[in-house]
Amino acid sequence: MASSSSPDDGDGNGCCPSFSHHRKFHRNWLRDLLLRHASNHPNLPPSLQSTALVVAPMVDASDLPFRLLTRRYNANLCFTPMIHAKNFVERPGYRRQFWKMMEDQQQKIMLPLPPEDRPLIAQFAGHDKDMLLRAMKLIEQHVDGVDINCGCPQGIAKRGRYGAFLMEELGGDRIVEIVQHLSENLNVPVCVKLRILPSGIEDSLELYQRIVEAGASMLTIHGRTRLQKQRNTGSADWELVRRVVERVGHIVPVLSNGNIANLDDVHRCLRETGADGVMSSEAILEYPPLFTETNVESTNFQRTGPGRLQIATEFLEICKHYPPEDGGQGSGFKCIRAHVHRFLHADLQLYKSIRDAVIASFSIEALEDVVKILREIYETTGHEVSEEQLSWYFRHRGGVDESQDDLPEEEKKEEAAVEEDDCPTDVFVEVCDNDGDY
Ligand SMILES: Cc1cc2nc3c(=O)[nH]c(=O)nc-3n(C[C@H](O)[C@H](O)[C@H](O)COP(=O)(O)O)c2cc1C
Repeated sequence: MASSSSPDDGDGNGCCPSFSHHRKFHRNWLRDLLLRHASNHPNLPPSLQSTALVVAPMVDASDLPFRLLTRRYNANLCFTPMIHAKNFVERPGYRRQFWKMMEDQQQKIMLPLPPEDRPLIAQFAGHDKDMLLRAMKLIEQHVDGVDINCGCPQGIAKRGRYGAFLMEELGGDRIVEIVQHLSENLNVPVCVKLRILPSGIEDSLELYQRIVEAGASMLTIHGRTRLQKQRNTGSADWELVRRVVERVGHIVPVLSNGNIANLDDVHRCLRETGADGVMSSEAILEYPPLFTETNVESTNFQRTGPGRLQIATEFLEICKHYPPEDGGQGSGFKCIRAHVHRFLHADLQLYKSIRDAVIASFSIEALEDVVKILREIYETTGHEVSEEQLSWYFRHRGGVDESQDDLPEEEKKEEAAVEEDDCPTDVFVEVCDNDGDY
């Protein structure tokens, strides 16, 4: 909300007056925002209360029920999934996947999401600055910031001229122009989530600086190029993030994205990069209490947080309160099933019939039955929650993943939907790919 951030009353931290003189939002807007909501996170140590512990934008995965679950476990800032600006403006059915709407004739009045779903940043994709502005204006009053996706590395983003490809259009002029237009015309901070340019670190740093000069209020750096995806994901470059902080960190907050698998990683990343916060995607998808003290050195790498069955149960409960037709829940049941699939990934590798049952589930009750069966199995096998570790997150990080090779075809499709990097679903492709303009 506009009121949630104070206009810059001076020269940022006094380091670079020419940059910051006319900035709409003070360098500390993010910190102030987090502190205002700190009472929602009573278990967060004081040292982390002004640090952003962020749930990444994730197509079909950072939906409302999932965000609410992660917020119970210390996530203090969430992003919506990427929203395709043109579709959001033009298609009520598409809008409903992300937002609650008034049932008026035009269906263009957006209602606030639940108050516990704040702070929230809405991420959009597009290359047309006016279309992006129209889309963002629709929800501006219900969010704490907007974000431009400059990260999606997929073919659909190339065709649509958005995502990581937007960074390269007109030698960077396109994204700079978009940021300037949006920041001049919106009353919330305009943020940008970026990858490394294929042409290298120096070019990337140059572009990030231009984006900040154009008025961006926060950068999230995913320290990988668009070529580092799926099996070539590899690790993210924190040294680059450190250099971004060094270059523009006195003007805007910087978030580091990539390589965060537990709270020890969070501390290490903050120390090594100097970033204002960390963003997690895949690891938090598998284990939403990622930002709590569990599976870390101080717990002897044991899980001291809730076990994955408890997480699946809690999630399904939340889903019952926020059914897909209410708006905000992504692609409905498909999303719910994919979440449960990731939570229980370690079990589903072991018990193929249960994996088949998850894939064949078409209702929350059916997924609850799966959880019940697993609970019974746990009782007979003497399962210990304390021994649970991440499983799905590491599939592309510990060498070649062999576990996919024996999957049945249908399941490969399900896994592909769960796995694709950045814009993962065929539903999204269906919605956006047939649009001649993109
Ligand atoms: C299922 C899924 C969906 C994603 N969707 C988006 C998206 O909508 N927008 C975006 O900028 N990045 C998206 N990403 C990329 C993540 O936000 C993040 O940049 C990437 O996964 C690296 O973070 P990690 O190492 O913590 O996984 C997605 C990633 C996954 C796994």
